[in-house]
Amino acid sequence: MSTIVLAYSGGLDTSVLLKRLLLEGHDVIALTADLGESDGATGAAAVDAIAAISAKARALGAREAVALDVRQRFYDEYVMPAFAANVRYEGCYPLSAALSRPLIAALLVETARTFGADTVAHGCTGKGNDQVRIEFGVRSLDSQLRVRAPLRERPLSRPDAIAFAAEHHIPIAQSAAKPYSIDANLWGRSIEAGVLENPWTAPPEDAFGWTASPQDRPATAQEIVVDFHAGIPSVAGVSGPALLAQLNILGGAHGIGRIDLIEDRVIGLKSRELYEAPAATILLAAREALERLVLTRDELRFKAGVDRKYAELVYDGFWYSPLRSAFDAFNAVSNSRLSGEVRLRLLQGCATVVGVRSPFALYDEGLATYGAGDSFDHRAADGFIHLTGLPLDRLAHVAAVAVS
Ligand code: ARG
Repeated sequence: MSTIVLAYSGGLDTSVLLKRLLLEGHDVIALTADLGESDGATGAAAVDAIAAISAKARALGAREAVALDVRQRFYDEYVMPAFAANVRYEGCYPLSAALSRPLIAALLVETARTFGADTVAHGCTGKGNDQVRIEFGVRSLDSQLRVRAPLRERPLSRPDAIAFAAEHHIPIAQSAAKPYSIDANLWGRSIEAGVLENPWTAPPEDAFGWTASPQDRPATAQEIVVDFHAGIPSVAGVSGPALLAQLNILGGAHGIGRIDLIEDRVIGLKSRELYEAPAATILLAAREALERLVLTRDELRFKAGVDRKYAELVYDGFWYSPLRSAFDAFNAVSNSRLSGEVRLRLLQGCATVVGVRSPFALYDEGLATYGAGDSFDHRAADGFIHLTGLPLDRLAHVAAVAVS
């Protein structure tokens, strides 16, 4: 018999797991984290939601049920460092689910220490990315802890889960019949499975929960200004998790942040996933515009490669890696000059940057202008072109000699 900390969502699968572990004779501590899944609900409502999940875990027989509001920690320690790297896996996915798993791993390890547990467990299946991320996370933080994935040991079909729940008096929410697998936190919502498994099938409107359908979006644009201070965004004085909640609602009303992606999973499969990430889409557009204004050409070129590798590391489960920490240190240098304002227009699914300014702008209107007041020395271009092109003259000469 072990003491096991189970990452418990309150859904059908993890409720069945909880019961199964109890039937095996273990002591179970149910751990539930609020990462802003009910993003947009007031803080109090969200806390109520996780309190209700913990009550369910206790009713099912868990020895302890731990409910943690980790929205601020998620924002500060996971979302913001990744934001500085403009995270978009395969150019598209802002890594909402992927960023939450290393935090869940940390919470599992911390809770195991609090309760003297020797094992942690999660409800991920053997096909997905999340098993990899949670287990790499736990092993990075405590290599002595045992990790169990009961759904991998013994896969559970939906009908079997429902039958098991009925037999063991586990309350089944209506959502047990839901047609998709959904994961959400304040950085975005992921939707997969069901009819989406056929990549030719257009996303049905019922898959979207945060973003308005085209016919329900306002016909007039709304303008917002994102303020950056050393890389940290705010809008009209609102920052942190509250800003993400607010932008998810506002951007969602304009249908911003829908992503339909065939992506490459860690375990080698391709899968099709939809995402809704209004806040992430708006903030990433704003950040990229400001970076283009204040970073040097060489920083931008080099950073694009670093950003891409950063997203791959996070997607692949290597959050706790020295390379990621090194990238954070690299990003801290550019972040120190990333202050300024970005003006965006939200309309019909698009967040369009329409203006940008910063005290650190490297853009110089006097040099760039084609109008009067031009301070650029046009004659200097002559020498630049002459010297920079020298190797081309030689190459052309060599090529001409070779053919003659
Ligand atoms: N494909 C995304 C990732 O690997 C999301 C995974 C969770 N998605 C879900 N719908 N349950 O990060």
